[in-house]
Amino acid sequence: MDLTAEFLVFGATGQQGGAVARALIAKGRKVRAFVRNPESIKSKALAAEGISLAIGDLFDPASIDRAMGGIAGVFSVQTSSPAGEVTDAQEVWQGKVIADCALRQEVRHLVYSSSGAAGKGPTGMGHFDSKSEIEVYVQSLPIMSTVTRPASFMEMMLLPGMGLPQGEFTFFMRPEQSMQMIAVDDLGRINAEILMAGERFAGKTIEIAGTSVTGKDVERAFTNAAGRRIAYRRFPQELLAKNPFLNRLEELLDSGLLAGAADIPAIEREFGHLTSLVEWLEGHGKPLFEAALKDEKAEVALR
Ligand SMILES: NC(=O)c1ccc[n+]([C@@H]2O[C@H](COP(=O)([O-])OP(=O)(O)OC[C@H]3O[C@@H](n4cnc5c(N)ncnc54)[C@H](OP(=O)(O)O)[C@@H]3O)[C@@H](O)[C@H]2O)c1
Repeated sequence: MDLTAEFLVFGATGQQGGAVARALIAKGRKVRAFVRNPESIKSKALAAEGISLAIGDLFDPASIDRAMGGIAGVFSVQTSSPAGEVTDAQEVWQGKVIADCALRQEVRHLVYSSSGAAGKGPTGMGHFDSKSEIEVYVQSLPIMSTVTRPASFMEMMLLPGMGLPQGEFTFFMRPEQSMQMIAVDDLGRINAEILMAGERFAGKTIEIAGTSVTGKDVERAFTNAAGRRIAYRRFPQELLAKNPFLNRLEELLDSGLLAGAADIPAIEREFGHLTSLVEWLEGHGKPLFEAALKDEKAEVALR
């Protein structure tokens, strides 16, 4: 194992990239973060933790080429259309450009973070089908690569508008229906392990989840964490009728596609203990959950 190898992490000021960069640093590895604005609070926080900054933009391939000089492994992630900053076509373009640059710069190993809903046929949702297209492209290139497909993040549940301040919680599952999830910190640790052992995971596609929870499980865990009753219910039909995006996600959950396909015991054997929802609410999720209960802004709820 080459301890001097340096890793380039995209999206390091965001959830996934931030968790990957921090997990690598915690393992004593060298990390370069690709950032748009080195003066942002999040970029400065990365620098303060010993992560070097490469300035660039995903719409500027020359800046990606520059950032990849001397890099052994790359963590590739892009934002997607629901966040409002890119179209599905732009997400695909960015994902392919990172892979092209990695090939050109002779990076040894590329890890592409996709989604648990990708690679299983068309979904009718642009931000899942975009990832299927990037996966195929990455795997078609003559470069050592690994595709990771994370389940829905636990952090997603704390986005505003799910009813927590009113003592209820609405989400996708029926009360007895299971859905796989992952704590973003676990996702970071697993992708970091994959980057540090490129040969071992080369050519693999790995579904990543840490736990499987039903609506009832969430109700129990949130009620305990809040110290007062939080009643769980599935998104109501009236809302789904007005919101085709949520409605399609519900359909994909009911079809099994969004329920998750990760072999959680196998992941735990390979990567060690995975955070349960209860553990997450007692640890990293605690301040986020408390902010969401008080209806504080998403910037507070999501790191
Ligand atoms: N939420 C879930 O449950 C879930 C599950 C599976 C997969 N996903 C997928 O995860 C992806 C998002 O990951 P995330 O949540 O980690 O993202 P995030 O927290 O929204 O962060 C996005 C990152 O990308 C950077 N970025 C955006 N546009 C850029 C550009 N033009 N050039 C350089 N950097 C740019 C941002 O930098 P700045 O600081 O400069 O903005 C930030 O670091 C999406 O594709 C989504 O579909 C999500």
